[in-house]
Amino acid sequence: MKVSDLKINNMKNPVGYLMERLSCSWKVTETKAKDQKNVIIEVSLDEDFENICFVKEGALLCQTGEVLELSLEPYTRYYTRVTVTTDLDETNTSGVSYFETAKQDEDWIGKWITTKDDDRFHPTFSKSFSLKKTKNIKSARLYISGLGLFSALLNGQKVGQEVLTPYYSNYHDEVQYLTYDITGNLKEENKLDVSLGNGWYKGRFGLRERKENFGSKFLMIAEVRVVYEDGTVETIGTDESWFYKGSDTQASDIYDGEIINHLLWEGKENSSETAVFTSAEGTLVARYSLPVLEMEELAVKEVIHTPAGETVLDFGQNFAGYVAFICRQPKGTEIILDFGEILQHDNFYNENYRSAKSQFTYISDGKERIVKPQFTFFGFRYVRVTGWEGELKAEAFTGKVLYSQMEITGHIETDHKGVNQLFSNTMWGQKSNSIDFPTDCPQRDERLGWTGDAQVFSGTASYNMDTAAFYNKFIHDLRTEQKKLDGILPGVIPVFEPNAAIFSSIWGDIATFLPTVLYEHFGDKSALKVYYPMMKDWVDKITKEDKKRGQKYLFDYGNQLGDWLALDGRTEQSMKGGTDDYYIASCYYAMSVAKTADAARILGYTEDEAIYRDLHENISKAVIKEYFSVTGRLCIDTQTGYIVALYSGIYKDKNKIIEGLKSRLYKDCYKIKGGFVGAPIMCRVMAENGLEEEAFYFLLQEGYPGWMHCINLGATTIWERWNSVLDNGLISGVLMNSLNHYSFGSIVEYLYRDVAGLKAIEPGFKKVLITPLMNQKLKFMNTSYESPYGTYRVEWEIKKEGNVHVHVEVPFGCSAVIGLPFYEGEVDEVTAGTYEYDYKPATDLRLLYTRKTLFKDMMQNPKALEVIDRISPLLQHFLGSGDEEFLNESLATLEGMSFLGFSPDMIENLAMELTKLAEE
Ligand code: BGC
Repeated sequence: MKVSDLKINNMKNPVGYLMERLSCSWKVTETKAKDQKNVIIEVSLDEDFENICFVKEGALLCQTGEVLELSLEPYTRYYTRVTVTTDLDETNTSGVSYFETAKQDEDWIGKWITTKDDDRFHPTFSKSFSLKKTKNIKSARLYISGLGLFSALLNGQKVGQEVLTPYYSNYHDEVQYLTYDITGNLKEENKLDVSLGNGWYKGRFGLRERKENFGSKFLMIAEVRVVYEDGTVETIGTDESWFYKGSDTQASDIYDGEIINHLLWEGKENSSETAVFTSAEGTLVARYSLPVLEMEELAVKEVIHTPAGETVLDFGQNFAGYVAFICRQPKGTEIILDFGEILQHDNFYNENYRSAKSQFTYISDGKERIVKPQFTFFGFRYVRVTGWEGELKAEAFTGKVLYSQMEITGHIETDHKGVNQLFSNTMWGQKSNSIDFPTDCPQRDERLGWTGDAQVFSGTASYNMDTAAFYNKFIHDLRTEQKKLDGILPGVIPVFEPNAAIFSSIWGDIATFLPTVLYEHFGDKSALKVYYPMMKDWVDKITKEDKKRGQKYLFDYGNQLGDWLALDGRTEQSMKGGTDDYYIASCYYAMSVAKTADAARILGYTEDEAIYRDLHENISKAVIKEYFSVTGRLCIDTQTGYIVALYSGIYKDKNKIIEGLKSRLYKDCYKIKGGFVGAPIMCRVMAENGLEEEAFYFLLQEGYPGWMHCINLGATTIWERWNSVLDNGLISGVLMNSLNHYSFGSIVEYLYRDVAGLKAIEPGFKKVLITPLMNQKLKFMNTSYESPYGTYRVEWEIKKEGNVHVHVEVPFGCSAVIGLPFYEGEVDEVTAGTYEYDYKPATDLRLLYTRKTLFKDMMQNPKALEVIDRISPLLQHFLGSGDEEFLNESLATLEGMSFLGFSPDMIENLAMELTKLAEE
């Protein structure tokens, strides 16, 4: 038996983080035991646990988040370990992990410094300092921040591995500082060099070409704090004894890229200037961003020589980060890298980046170096290289994939190539849009914290990766804005013009949806408690504005973004879809209120719970009154309309909604119409409301619009629009068209929840439902999910002889209710362990077609065509003419077409044979 994976606030060994709460979690593995019998959490001031300062013991301590009631000292490293005794009486203690506080309320000895007013170049601030007693150093830390971005070298070595520090925050309010352990890097004579870039702070950032949103000067602050064995402390802080010079960074910008010019100062005076004291507007706070690191590397797949005569590197994968290259170029060589997502007419292209220049320029001084930018990133698959002297070898270039340090927790593999690619595309979409905070896209002049995109994707994201600490950071940023906006959770952060904050459902509903997703996945009540005021303020704001208008219990105002990029809008390129904005908003208002009530229940706020339950009932009634007919038909006859009704549970008669949806799909020739609201939840809602077959159809069908369609056109990430790229390979427009927008990738949650069938019924996946769905188009599916308790595995296979095999693993401390499809045995309730099932399904899952299969799905199968040909030349005639309406009929709908000559006998004969066809 092993106790492992100790985390504090969902992070392993966090150093220098803001600790708004202190919550400890752990896992138990390698045991046949089912549950904990006793747990002891110990916190000590030393690694040997001789100075224990906190102990908590009990049988019911929560593995996914037990609060440590400990008052923390600044500058202190605490060591933790957990001892668990299981119900089999095995006892084991975890390894020692730690967390370390930052400065807390301690005053800064270092002061903010900047350059003289006229010095507009990118500076490097430097300080040489000597330490006399290096042998006696017990520990040393660097506390540091720099705006826009900083990169520090201590004695010529980069401090830490992180990039784009100190990350994004609304710098008007807060500036994060980082803590680095530099104990092993100090010498008697030391030099600290800190270079600065523009970043989000003073470069271009936000809509409408904005720059210098937070400030116009480079500034930095630092403190080296050395603690000697004898307890004495020496601190070297930023002050006027620091000097600065111009660095070789000629330009830097998140959108536009970077210029590193090693000849910038050649022949020009670049004298050492004394730093000037300044102040920063925002308060210095201990970091709350996860590290952004070079998480993966990609090799060049192909060097392409285009018809236009360009040399283009193809990494084979769209991603976010940058390229590092080995440079042995002669002095004066200027190398330019341009970044793009797609080739057009086989040539380099990036017009869809709009005004973002996305360019990296390097001017060599002739020295051999590994070159990469420091203060920018790009979203790309292709890189055009200009100016390279001599032979360009693919091996000289490496793609560095940047994202916030999150563990990958989900895995899906099937026998269907397209589904595997969809999973991969979504994972890459998540990586690319997780550089410090969730963004809409990583490439064009946007890369903003759009809350709607994050909201719809957060469920998928939290199966894919351990997102708890990442979203905790985002929620911190959201809350900072919300507090200034009287409760509005804005459509996008940062907000530069408070009066113009977007007050929209779906986007703002992240206030309640994200905490719910996090509680479901990570089961930490202490986090929910921190998030609760955000939930409450959001729904209260909607209510407050509604009351001003006489309280209709509807969210029928505000600047609603609606079913963004749906295909049933005024045109297929329209931003808004055809579903009534206020209907959507009001249903989400109800859901947000229900989620707030749920959180209130969990947190024991009974009064709040009662208020929100009551409000929920009133909103539901108002929605039914406004948007439903007297007999219960939904008056919003769109796919998204029905999907939202089923998702929110607001209807008079569920059957009428399902029938309405079915008939809408029929009328739409089974083409997806939904945008950011409808499409992400479409398959999930269908699968959970008796339309399993329809859900599989939309997942797997290859026509436009659809998930497989994008993949067949070569997508390696999720596109912003269903028609981002047209069938002829041309991009459909450049106004707003990214190939790396993850919203439509939210379908992956349906793969986990419904096709693998793994859903939490108790927070943190302590108890789950395992109810897979099977379909002959997928022969097997292997899914694993690393929950905070440990690994769940659901693997199913339809075997050649027709039997179904299912393998389930449930981790320690957990239980599962297993209900298998077409299984005649009982529903199983199991505890931790491994379970195998082999059975003959009540329906033969090898059969290809049912009476509901659309004819267009049979058209590739010669056997089906032969049957149709033989039994019904009439049907063959209609199908052969390629009539779209007819291709979207099925045996079931043919029954109503006797007027065309389809007799019941003919249909029965067709059914007899078609529904018996199986794959060989
Ligand atoms: C972004 C979207 C966002 C939308 C809302 C777009 O520019 O890229 O993903 O949610 O605007 O207005």
